[in-house]
Amino acid sequence: MKTLDSAVRALRGTLVWFHDDPFVNDDAMRVVEDGIVAMAGGRIVASGPASEVLPALPPGVRPVSYGRSLILPGFVDAHIHYVQAQIVGSCGAQLLDWLDRYTFNAEQAFAEVLHSEAIARFFCDELLRHGTTTAVTFCAVYPQSVEAVFGEAERRNMRLIAGKVLMDRNAPAALTDTAQKGYDDSKTLLEKWHGRGRLLYAITPRFAGSSSPEQLEAAGALWREHPDAYLHSHLAENLAEVAWVRQLFPDALDYVDVYERYGLLGPRALYAHGIHLSERELGRLAATGTAIAHCPTSNLFLGSGLFRLHAARKHGIHVALGTDIGAGTSYSLLKTMGDAYKVAQLNGQTLTAAQAYYTATLGAARALRLDDRIGALEPGYEADLVVLDVAATPALQLRTRNADGVEDLLFALMILGDDRAVRATYIAGELAHDRDADAQPRRPEVDAARP
Ligand code: GUN
Ligand code: ZN
Repeated sequence: MKTLDSAVRALRGTLVWFHDDPFVNDDAMRVVEDGIVAMAGGRIVASGPASEVLPALPPGVRPVSYGRSLILPGFVDAHIHYVQAQIVGSCGAQLLDWLDRYTFNAEQAFAEVLHSEAIARFFCDELLRHGTTTAVTFCAVYPQSVEAVFGEAERRNMRLIAGKVLMDRNAPAALTDTAQKGYDDSKTLLEKWHGRGRLLYAITPRFAGSSSPEQLEAAGALWREHPDAYLHSHLAENLAEVAWVRQLFPDALDYVDVYERYGLLGPRALYAHGIHLSERELGRLAATGTAIAHCPTSNLFLGSGLFRLHAARKHGIHVALGTDIGAGTSYSLLKTMGDAYKVAQLNGQTLTAAQAYYTATLGAARALRLDDRIGALEPGYEADLVVLDVAATPALQLRTRNADGVEDLLFALMILGDDRAVRATYIAGELAHDRDADAQPRRPEVDAARP
């Protein structure tokens, strides 16, 4: 190996990443026990066995040693609402009532810049504490809620995809825009933020229930003008929602057809949930390159249903994982993988650790069309990493002491792990969270009386 130059930083531990899709290739996972990943200029410059990388490190560069810990590409949370951080774990309703009872109240507070900024800081802290290095987030209807979260992510050099919610009907007046205003505000935000540093813009109609045909038309027009931007929405989450959308769009064949009619399917279109879909609808998502964000903690919490991950993958649909905070119940992609496993079990199927971690890393990057930049530990990739402690709790310590190889360690972590197992998070090569040094997470500086 050639000697590395420039300001290199190196981490030592067990390296784990994917070079292929474990849903179709049983040998898709790469494991390097006692490996080193070397980083410079925000990117990975070398990865491999310590015996090969150590001699290539510049004199004086000593790797940070993480012992038995696992070093992986940082997790991708492909669907989250940062503006719902305060309503996580609100009891007693399924989707449509839950939106009315909790969500719409909480989101109105984001008309205030200071509130948006405080929650944006809290949100980025939480992502890093949980090993999430890329997130795709809904904001509120107010442009200032988008400015706040992009500003915070930019200060931390994090990869973030975000957008202003479009909503012009079936919501409180304070939360609605119009087709024209939604288009204008989205365009201004997109032109300011899309492609700025590591930030990307998503045109974000909330769902077919809260956007008029004119608004969906305007969203499609904006996307056609900026096809390299994202389109982020919700789809077929709950049976009452599906029936309601049928009434709202009686001419459409089905829910997917509503979005397709307005030009809202294609590469970089990302829909949360996709639980209640016909074979025809799955076929259209696959044919158009549209991705689904599977959000199992949310689906279980709201009683929405059981997403058929294997059926979606068999159709050739890209699937990523989302926490869907605040209907989801944890910021942890480990816990999200654990619940994806349980949902698969309830469908009479299994989800291997390799399939789960792929879906949270390279699979998500492929769904987002970012797999040339994130999701792997190979030279040239952005150095966004998570370090997982296999003995983070007494239960994990006991369970992993005699683990049967790295895949068994990964499985134990996704069933028993959470933020306590995230020992460190690196963003573009810089240490952004150190569990043992940051023992006290920052509290949100928000007015306790707020909803
Ligand atoms: N469908 C439309 N809006 C929402 C939302 O905020 N959360 C969830 N889980 N589903 C939605
Ligand atoms: Zn959602």
